[in-house]
Amino acid sequence: MRNRRAALAAIAGAASLALTLTACGQSGEGGSDEKPADTKGGTIGISMPTKSSERWITDGANVEKDLKAKGYKTKLVFGEDDPDQQVSQIENLITQGVKALIVAAIDNKSLNNVLQQAADAKIPVISYDRLILGTKNVDYYASFDNEKVGKLQGQYIVDKLGLASGKGPFNIELFAGSNDDNNTKYFFNGAMSVLQPYIDSKKLVVKSGQTKLTQVTTLRWDGATAQKRMEDNLTSAYTKGRVDAVLSPYDGISIGIIAALKSDGYGTAAKPLPVITGQDAELASVKSIIAGQQSMTVYKDLRKLAQVATDMVDASLNGKKPEINDTKSYDNGTKVVPAFLLQPVGVDKTNYEKELIQGGYYTADQLK
Ligand code: GAL
Repeated sequence: MRNRRAALAAIAGAASLALTLTACGQSGEGGSDEKPADTKGGTIGISMPTKSSERWITDGANVEKDLKAKGYKTKLVFGEDDPDQQVSQIENLITQGVKALIVAAIDNKSLNNVLQQAADAKIPVISYDRLILGTKNVDYYASFDNEKVGKLQGQYIVDKLGLASGKGPFNIELFAGSNDDNNTKYFFNGAMSVLQPYIDSKKLVVKSGQTKLTQVTTLRWDGATAQKRMEDNLTSAYTKGRVDAVLSPYDGISIGIIAALKSDGYGTAAKPLPVITGQDAELASVKSIIAGQQSMTVYKDLRKLAQVATDMVDASLNGKKPEINDTKSYDNGTKVVPAFLLQPVGVDKTNYEKELIQGGYYTADQLK
């Protein structure tokens, strides 16, 4: 219902905007009819997936800041995790005459038609953090080494449990991200490349039996969905024994998992919380790490990601080639998308001060 209302509002908005633009006599080419203030670089459309996670709000703000520093104007929209809403928002941005698009997809396969409209209007498209699949109309991909994210999570579990020195067996439960996000399989496969040998040798036991990616995904990365699944698994598979580790791909999911564990009595000296991974270094989870609840997170410096994406826009609009460091890993089913991949960093209690505070990502006060 809410989504339908939002969609209707978006359509109404698009219609009235189209009327306004027609009334102003804006030509499809952009150029000569623009107001003087628009001439220095034009407007860049930024489409982010949701405000429900702090990271995307930070991404939006960073990208706007960097684009403005390069002389561009910006229009930033958030899709409320609703793929249809994201499509109509991008349609709107195209109608408004944006010169380039930066898009973090909600559903990686839902954007083909709207990106054809972008291509027809000669608007370059940067796929932001999440690769858009099944279309040739994506010019560049700005992201992190996503397989390495998973490897850092898996290795942390191996190290904390002492698996390499022969300890075990331990019980582990596995969680993955949204099945419509291309990153999900990279994170999961990266983690499983480290964990699977121990599952095979029975040093890691998944008592729920849920080990396949299709069994462990979490639609839209929703913490409440993960909480529910963890609760169900605790009830059905842990009448005996305890959970020693949980592979969680993302901080918001880790928060849900910790809530389920706590309501099952974990988090005391007699029944300590398991090793729990995460990703994004969101404020609440870094605080949870400092408080000894979540074990680690994978920190991805979003300031650098915004910089890479804005450089890609700037180069594309000036007929230059942006800096690329990967031309083979990210095949979107139609083409291999040239990418710049940044390096993620594992962060726990031992190095958060160095990485996050000294690195200027958070102030010490924010983490109190
Ligand atoms: C992924 C992203 C992660 C995390 C997740 C949930 O696409 O790479 O860093 O933010 O979405 O928002």
